Amino acid sequence: MDNRIISPEETEQDFDQNLRPEHLDEYIGQDEIKENLRIFIEAAKMREEPLDHVLLYGPPGLGKTTLAHIIANELGSNIKTASGPSLEKSGDLAAVLSNLEPGDVLFIDEIHRMPKFIEEILYPAMEDFELDIIIGTDGKSKSIKIDLPPFTLVGATTRAGDLSSPLRDRFGIVSKLNYYNDQELQEIVKRTSRVLDMPIEDDAALEIAKRCRKTPRVANRLFKRVRDFALVNGDSVINKEITIDSLRRLKVDEYGLDQIDIEYLAALITKFNGGPVGIETIATAIGEEVTTIEDVVEPFLLQEGFIKRTPRGRVATEKAYTHLKLNRQESLF
Ligand SMILES: Nc1ncnc2c1ncn2[C@@H]1O[C@H](COP(=O)(O)OP(=O)(O)O)[C@@H](O)[C@H]1O
Ligand SMILES: [Mg+2]
Repeated sequence: MDNRIISPEETEQDFDQNLRPEHLDEYIGQDEIKENLRIFIEAAKMREEPLDHVLLYGPPGLGKTTLAHIIANELGSNIKTASGPSLEKSGDLAAVLSNLEPGDVLFIDEIHRMPKFIEEILYPAMEDFELDIIIGTDGKSKSIKIDLPPFTLVGATTRAGDLSSPLRDRFGIVSKLNYYNDQELQEIVKRTSRVLDMPIEDDAALEIAKRCRKTPRVANRLFKRVRDFALVNGDSVINKEITIDSLRRLKVDEYGLDQIDIEYLAALITKFNGGPVGIETIATAIGEEVTTIEDVVEPFLLQEGFIKRTPRGRVATEKAYTHLKLNRQESLF
């Protein structure tokens, strides 16, 4: 279970429909994607044709699901949703497809987790708006074709590399979502503060922005926890002081690293002399699962330059040494 406050994965508590922007204008950052989508959507409407199929990919929490809903809103269409892992039998996808109405957006989340044989049913649906299904069994089975209404498939995935190329090639629009910068995240935090009706000062919003791993989902989650501390403290506005204090209690440091990250770096430096060391060895040393380290700890440490991957294992960088020393000094006071 991954229940770290800085985890980019979605949890039950994260879900807050109100926090989702509904239109492109309210969607902060990702400017290039927004501008392109705006044009493609406009053109599709002028031609009175469905928008080309769209593939959105990038790390969790960056706004893929939000964008899928925005695309439907901007098209003035309804959205129907499914997820890769839930499409287990050919009948599951057939049911979803035959439920579509003209112009609908079909959103398939985690599309890389769809079984291969389901993918193959999707190809003619995407290309010719046709559903080929086989009815009956054994010698008596026959294949029938059903016409589907024109629709737009929006697929989302955290792992574009896991998508088969025939599937990837059937998307006319492929957009990679990037990590957000501090200013964009600050704006997202301020928007959340308005939606949740709890004012926050600019420098406090910036503090959250700096510590949220460049991820809006984490920014929103940190905001909600800081808001709790402020509320209990009797503050009607969130200021920088309470923000820093809350984040310290939540054990999220000034880079957005939490206790597991710090344990990882400390073990790498103190027990293995900075590496290189294999992932299994570190995992054992800090008592974490290898998969947790691989999927949630290392990607951010690598991206922020705290560690490097070498053929012989993980190595701590200068930045990791400096950061940990700082921390040791801080904890003296
Ligand atoms: N560009 C953005 N502007 C404002 N809020 C955003 C943006 N991107 C994401 N969010 C917020 O972050 C949270 C996570 O977004 P979501 O679309 O669920 O991410 P993903 O599907 O990529 O995991 C949502 O609550 C959403 O409102
Ligand atoms: Mg999502």
